[in-house]
Amino acid sequence: MEKIVSLCKRRGFIFQSSEIYGGINGFWDYGPLGAELKRNVKELWWRTMTQQRDDVAGLEATIIMHPQIWKASGHVDTFSDPMCDCLLTKKRFRADQIEPQSGVVFHFIDAIEAAKVISEANDLIPKLPDGEKQETLKTVEKAVRLLKNALGVAKDEIIEPSRLVAAFVQKYGRKGNSSGRPYSVLVSNESEFPRAERVAQDFYRLQGLVAPVVFRGGSERVQNSQRFNPENGSLLTEPRPFNLMFKTYVGPVADEENVAYLRPETAQAIFAQFKNVLETSRQKVPFGIAQVGKAFRNEVTPRNFTFRSREFEQMELEFFIRPDEAVEAVAGRVASSSEIARSQSPTADPQPDWGWEAWHKYWVEERIRFYESIGLPRTTLEEYWQKPEELAHYARACVDILFKFPFGTQELEGIAARSDFDLSQHQRFSGKPTGVFDEELKNAWAKLDEGKKADLSKRFYEARFKYLTRMGEPAEQAEKQAREDTAGLAKGNFIPHVIEPSAGVDRLILALICNAYAEDQAPDDKGNMESRVVMRFHPRIAPIKVAVFPLLKNKPELVKKAKEVRDLLRPHMTVFYDEAGAIGRRYRRQDEAGTPFGVTIDFDTLGETPELLNTVTLRDRDTMRQDRVKIDDLLPRLLAKVR
Ligand code: GAP
Repeated sequence: MEKIVSLCKRRGFIFQSSEIYGGINGFWDYGPLGAELKRNVKELWWRTMTQQRDDVAGLEATIIMHPQIWKASGHVDTFSDPMCDCLLTKKRFRADQIEPQSGVVFHFIDAIEAAKVISEANDLIPKLPDGEKQETLKTVEKAVRLLKNALGVAKDEIIEPSRLVAAFVQKYGRKGNSSGRPYSVLVSNESEFPRAERVAQDFYRLQGLVAPVVFRGGSERVQNSQRFNPENGSLLTEPRPFNLMFKTYVGPVADEENVAYLRPETAQAIFAQFKNVLETSRQKVPFGIAQVGKAFRNEVTPRNFTFRSREFEQMELEFFIRPDEAVEAVAGRVASSSEIARSQSPTADPQPDWGWEAWHKYWVEERIRFYESIGLPRTTLEEYWQKPEELAHYARACVDILFKFPFGTQELEGIAARSDFDLSQHQRFSGKPTGVFDEELKNAWAKLDEGKKADLSKRFYEARFKYLTRMGEPAEQAEKQAREDTAGLAKGNFIPHVIEPSAGVDRLILALICNAYAEDQAPDDKGNMESRVVMRFHPRIAPIKVAVFPLLKNKPELVKKAKEVRDLLRPHMTVFYDEAGAIGRRYRRQDEAGTPFGVTIDFDTLGETPELLNTVTLRDRDTMRQDRVKIDDLLPRLLAKVR
């Protein structure tokens, strides 16, 4: 990762945001090459998901929306991470991400200012039984050492404890008190007590004590504990929920009535605009709405470069489908997921008998194929099917597509089957209907036999009732509403279910950069092998598609011809013109930028060898092969690779 992060900065892929002010944690900027790479990826996603399909329409919504949207979606109440702070350094952790540790925990009951310990011991010691006297004397010795240290008195200077106390009182105006707080420190074994004691002393200093004598409580062995700071062993605060949404105020008055949120996902705008898109796009279910845009999450611990950022972009599709009961009414059956798995071919066309399982499987496959098409081989990806206990309560299934990052195999995209939860929630919160009318369903239903009608109605009713009661509707109200919804189904009305492939642009860019990074050997200008860094981006996403080089910059005829070639290609792709330095160096610079093709204009181009007039060398970044190509053939040849 270090090499990748440094290349990203050196070559202008990714910079730390606000770097000249020391940066801001969790925010990243894309430099010239990164900006091109990102645009290419988003454009390809958009083209694949919307323009090349009949059944997906696009949307571009605002980042700040009505705050009720986030109430309806559940983000206001539940979009939080458990967070805890180190009691010593105040560093913040996500409680569930703390590396589990084992060892010995030393508990401390409290600490008392050394000056107070000494003065009280003077009165106390004569009254103590012999056994306790020894212990107390040891504590006094410790207090003397601490006090000397705090007052800057040399360790070996012999000085009356009472004079030390007087000096302390003179300097601080008090003898001091106890802190009144217990504390604990985790260390690896019993022999590390002195370290635990030093950490505890630092903690009590933070509580305002100058020379704290710590009082030991018990100790215990712990296994896989997440209650301590892995960096210093200090106890952490109890985990508490921390809402990840960034809050702001709309208008001039900063009060609770004007609170708004920066969207934590692009998806909700799609649900909120579902009816408008449906009515204006002439789509009918099944169909999808796609959106690409910024999302913001005040992550507790942003990390792994851009992987977990606080400002990032998402590419989300909400694909709306019929509930399975409607599919069964129309098609007579619902295809099972195992049937789909068997029949799925790269060109499988959606079928009328596809229920949510089939659509879900279809989108998982589509998304993996997309990744392959931009250069992430299937072998770099993994599918993780969430276990039932990991699923959100409304989700039927969720597959995470994982990429093997250098820091671990981690989520790139989630593909969730979200039932009719989202549109149902917006209907309840807005009071506006979010359902659709399906003529085909109405006609098909009328032809069903009574047994089938009863069976489908029962299943549909049960699902609606379950959803409504889960959302807190009183049983009576839920029953009434679920009955109405079921009656609506028989007339062709329902709230669509959703399959949601949700990808992060920045994570994908990071995956593409990690996947592209390679080191190998290449010949320099004299033919000697030297090591090179090469970014093997797929030509479709490469920031620069082709570099054009005149062999020598001081030969006007070569420069003129090279510029002609540049201008020929430029309207169709990103071209980088470079005349500076030895040709080998120029190749190397483009290898690092991930430019898949290099075109060199030499004396043969100008006709030095007559049969090579108007030809150029075309160098392939990966094979380093150089072909002689006619200028006239250059554009079609390159277009075939980069589109
Ligand atoms: N609408 C569903 C949704 O937002 P998510 O799993 O929370 O689901 C979807 O996010 C994708 O967004 C993730 O798979 C990831 O690629 C990206 N993402 C989420 N949080 C991110 C963060 N803090 N930084 C970068 N990307 C993030």
